Amino acid sequence: MIKISPSILSADFANLERDIRKISSADYVHVDVMDGVFVPNITIGIPVVKAIRPTTELPLDVHLMIVEPARYVEAFCDAGADLVTVHVEAGTEENIHAALDKIHAKGKRAGVVLKPGTPAEAALPFLEKVELILAMTVEPGFGGQKFMADQMPKVSALRKLIEERNPGCELEVDGGVSLETCGTCVAAGANVLVAGSAVYSAEDIPERIRALRG
Ligand code: DX5
Ligand code: ZN
Repeated sequence: MIKISPSILSADFANLERDIRKISSADYVHVDVMDGVFVPNITIGIPVVKAIRPTTELPLDVHLMIVEPARYVEAFCDAGADLVTVHVEAGTEENIHAALDKIHAKGKRAGVVLKPGTPAEAALPFLEKVELILAMTVEPGFGGQKFMADQMPKVSALRKLIEERNPGCELEVDGGVSLETCGTCVAAGANVLVAGSAVYSAEDIPERIRALRG
């Protein structure tokens, strides 16, 4: 089954609890953490993850867009993250391995993220140890950007690698996912769809989540 992970980057930050309740029929809550260094934007940090943790029973899918993520992953796990993803471009291979190991040591799920310009092969050093791979379908940093259809061959290549070497691993896409683009993502092999503006712009959010599932 296709899973939906609405991004609260498109929620009303003055009403986060209310807006997280609106997505209770989803599968994850996607939390975009940006440090102003890895990406040119600053968003949510550890105290906000801690504050929203009691507002939902859904797993928190925390997407770290921060440099040298091994420094902070334990703090995000302690704050209540269930799944923590780190960018392969955010540090040395050693730092990324250390981040994944620290997440697992906290008993949480770990994943790696690839920016649009990063080839599928960049996931190889981590493929056997992660529970999820996230392929960006926009340049990370902002919600509401245009979907990059040219990323679909990479999503298919990642699906093939996953089937061969770690079949339990989930494959998530993030950026510009909408009613128009969700089908192509699923056809390419994604099984988890992040959607920010497409969910929070809807009049009827549960219906939009159903429609995105296809
Ligand atoms: C971008 C974030 C995305 C973004 C998705 O850096 O990682 O999660 O919020 O927003 P939409 O669905 O509006 O493209
Ligand atoms: Zn994200």
